[in-house]
Amino acid sequence: MSRSINLAVVPGDGIGREVVAQGLKVLSAVLPGDVKLRTEEYDLGAKRWHATGETLPDAELERLRTHDAILLGAVGDPSVPSGVLERGLLLKLRFAFDHYVNLRPSKLFPNTATPLAGRPEIDFVVVREGTEGPYTGNGGSLRTGTPAEVATEVSVNTAYGVERVVRDAYERAKARPRKKLTLVHKNNVLVYAGHLWKNIFDRIGQEYPEVTTDYLHVDAATIFLVTRPERFDVIVTDNLFGDIITDLAAAVTGGIGLAASGNINPTGAFPSMFEPVHGSAPDIAGTGKADPTAAVLSVALMLRHLGLDTEAARIEEAVSADLAERSDPRTTDEIGDALAVRVTG
Ligand code: NAI
Ligand code: MG
Repeated sequence: MSRSINLAVVPGDGIGREVVAQGLKVLSAVLPGDVKLRTEEYDLGAKRWHATGETLPDAELERLRTHDAILLGAVGDPSVPSGVLERGLLLKLRFAFDHYVNLRPSKLFPNTATPLAGRPEIDFVVVREGTEGPYTGNGGSLRTGTPAEVATEVSVNTAYGVERVVRDAYERAKARPRKKLTLVHKNNVLVYAGHLWKNIFDRIGQEYPEVTTDYLHVDAATIFLVTRPERFDVIVTDNLFGDIITDLAAAVTGGIGLAASGNINPTGAFPSMFEPVHGSAPDIAGTGKADPTAAVLSVALMLRHLGLDTEAARIEEAVSADLAERSDPRTTDEIGDALAVRVTG
C-alpha cells in the first residue's frame, strides 16, 4: 500500500513551536517508507497578529482546507488581548471545519504522578461535542456597562448535532474492550437540552446492544472522576461540560504535559486538527522545559484518524515505555529524541 499525508502544521506561539517540532520528529521516524509525508507550515498566532493584525485570513482557511490533517501547537501570548487568537483562530477553525467531535483520551501511564491516592486504573476517552452548546456566540448584552446590564449566552442544541456526536461515541465505545458509554449532562435542571440529549442517547443506543450505557449529572461526574475514575470508558457530553471535565481528567492523569486532543470531522469533509490540550506556556517558553509528550500523543491520535493504526500504537507504546523509565529531568528535545528512537526500535 502506498499512501501519503499532506499535513498542515501550525506551530503557533511559545512552547507550541517547541513541542510541534518533537511531534514531527516522531512522526517522521514512525512512518514506513511507503507513506510519503508532505508538510506545510502556517505562520499563524501572536507574531502574525502583531505584524498584520490578522488571526486567520479566509485565503489561509481555504488553503488549510486542502490538507489531510492539521497539527497545531498552541496559540496565545500575554501581548495579545485574551480571546483574540482563541476565538479568531482556534474556535474559527473548529467551526469552519465542522469539528463536531472533540476527542480527549485520558490514561494514567505507568510511573506518572497522579494526585489520586491508590493509583486507580484510568483509561477513558471523552467525546465532547465541538460545534454547539453555549460556544456558538449566540448571545449578546443590553445596557452594556451600566448597573442594569443584561447578558445572554444561549446554549444551542440541535437533534442533528447531538445525534451525530452521540453516534460517534457509540462507535468508539463499541470498538473498545469494555464497551461502556456514559452520557454526562444536567438534565434535572437543564431540562430542554438535557432531554434532547437523553432521548437521542437512548434511541441510538438501541442500535448498539453490545454497548453498556449509563447517565450521570455533570456534578456527580466530577466526584466520580476523582473517587472512581476506573468506572469510565467512553464519556459523551456537551461542549461546555466537556471542556471542564477534560481539564479535570488531565489533572488526575499526570497533568497537562501528557493530554492530547483531536478536533475531528468524522465525515472527512474537512481536515481534522490535532493538538495538545495545553496552551503556549509563556512562563517556560524557550527554556527547554516543555514536555512534548502531549504533542506526540496528538500525532498518534492523528495517525489513528488517518487509518494508520499500527503506527499510532507504536507511538503510544513508546510513550508508555519512556514514561516508565523517566527519572532525571530532560529537555524538550531529549524527550523527542528518545521517543523517535523508541518508535523505530
Ligand atoms: P498553559 O497550558 O499554557 O500553561 C499552564 C501551566 O502549565 C503553566 O505553568 C505551564 O508552564 C504548564 N505547562 C503547559 N504545558 C506544558 C508542557 N507541555 N510541559 C510542561 N509544562 C507545561 O495555560 P495558560 O498559562 O493558561 O495559557 C497560556 C496561553 O496559552 C494563553 O494565551 C492561553 O490563552 C493559551 N492557550 C491556548 C490553547 C490552545 O492553543 N489550544 C489552550 C490553552 C491555553
Ligand atoms: Mg479547556
